[in-house]
Amino acid sequence: MLYYLDTAHLDSIQQAMECFPLSGVTTNPSIISKECQPLGTLLRDIRSCIGPSRMLFAQVIAREAEQMVREADALRQWCGPSFSVKIPATVQGLKAIASIKRQDPSFHVTATAIFTPQQALLCARAGADYVAPYINRLDNFGADGIQVIAEISRLFSTYKLPCQTVGASFRNVQQIHSCALAGAGAVTVSPDLLPLLLQHPLTDAAVEEFKRHWANTYGAKADLIEQLK
Ligand code: G3P
Repeated sequence: MLYYLDTAHLDSIQQAMECFPLSGVTTNPSIISKECQPLGTLLRDIRSCIGPSRMLFAQVIAREAEQMVREADALRQWCGPSFSVKIPATVQGLKAIASIKRQDPSFHVTATAIFTPQQALLCARAGADYVAPYINRLDNFGADGIQVIAEISRLFSTYKLPCQTVGASFRNVQQIHSCALAGAGAVTVSPDLLPLLLQHPLTDAAVEEFKRHWANTYGAKADLIEQLK
């Protein structure tokens, strides 16, 4: 399963990229708006932060298919290679997905704001390379986000659709883990939640214990590399 970072905050992107095996950055109009920066500058800065080969996801604003396609082309030109345009799973969105893939099958398209398996299936049939179901928003609504992921995985596998499920909208580690078990190909996680995937008091205790035992025998300041000389 791949991990993406769900933010446009440059410092957070830089910090997370240094430590985590991230495959790219996902944004949407709400995430972009939070940074209060010109869109072009922000996308260019994110691209230079993540390098040319990690995926950058950015979303169209238009509601009509023709304008969505124009926006998708402009975003792709601006963001360079390893780019996926995000298009909401509306009727016009479905039309735009099919039109973009007809024009250029190599254009990576993500169907976003997915809340049902049928939305995912239709978007995959229209040619989407990724679908992004919103887990926490489903859970908050009294639905079961993980069940939606599981059904999408089953449908894509049954019908042999080459579409990857990118689980999105998480509030806790368990949702991410359940998403992985349910067959998601990727998740996109906020910078706040990402370190919590590693956090465990027993890991911290073990690291402290290693340090203590080492210091007891070799001294608190003993350097491992020096000990090998
Ligand atoms: O990637 C989609 C995501 O940003 C939506 O998340 O937290 O606004 O439900 P949230």
